[in-house]
Amino acid sequence: MKFFIDSGNLDEIKSANNFGIIDGATTNPSLIAKEGIKGKKNIFDHYKKICDIIEGDISAEVISTTTKGIIKEGHELSEIDDKIVVKVPMIEDGIKALDYFSKNKIKTNCTLIFSAAQALIAAKCGATYVSPFIGRLDDWEKDKNAGIKMIKDIKNIFTNYNYNTEILAASIRNPKHIIECAKVGVNVITTPLKSLLELTKHPLTDVGLKQFLDDYKKNNP
Ligand code: E4P
Repeated sequence: MKFFIDSGNLDEIKSANNFGIIDGATTNPSLIAKEGIKGKKNIFDHYKKICDIIEGDISAEVISTTTKGIIKEGHELSEIDDKIVVKVPMIEDGIKALDYFSKNKIKTNCTLIFSAAQALIAAKCGATYVSPFIGRLDDWEKDKNAGIKMIKDIKNIFTNYNYNTEILAASIRNPKHIIECAKVGVNVITTPLKSLLELTKHPLTDVGLKQFLDDYKKNNP
């Protein structure tokens, strides 16, 4: 399973990358806005900085909502760096753009996926990745398993038809989401730094380490 860092913050992206396990990054307009970066040039420069840190695919999202606009913006984004993957929303105009990008060998990530039906359509249009949003679906359905159920359905469908589209599980809120995705066999999870760090924790690890160090000190006064 590939691990992407889901952030627009360069320090966080560097910290995550220092673990040596990061295979790519995802951003969205809200994450970029959180960093206070405004204006097309500054935003594009920021994407370039992320490309310079991370070895792997970097998703950068379009703002346009018409097929023509998405295609134009997608070309501009993909010129920033070979690592850029054009992130396209799951809307009718986005689907037409996915088909265009697929035929023109431009990598895409179809975002804001909340059902297996949407993922199926994106795969059929040749999306490189689909991003099903787990946490947001759990909140909306008021069912803590809704997101993972969707991921299982998408995995079944993609396996049935041998789609090459990769499942990039997004809107990860906790380590449990990551482990459930791994059990299903998604291709990629994109995680905030916090959930990535939580993966390394267990209370018994802390208790055990303290005991080992105390015993060492007692034996080596
Ligand atoms: C990444 O591609 C998504 O935009 C992101 O995971 C959404 O996460 P959120 O639901 O925590 O905002």
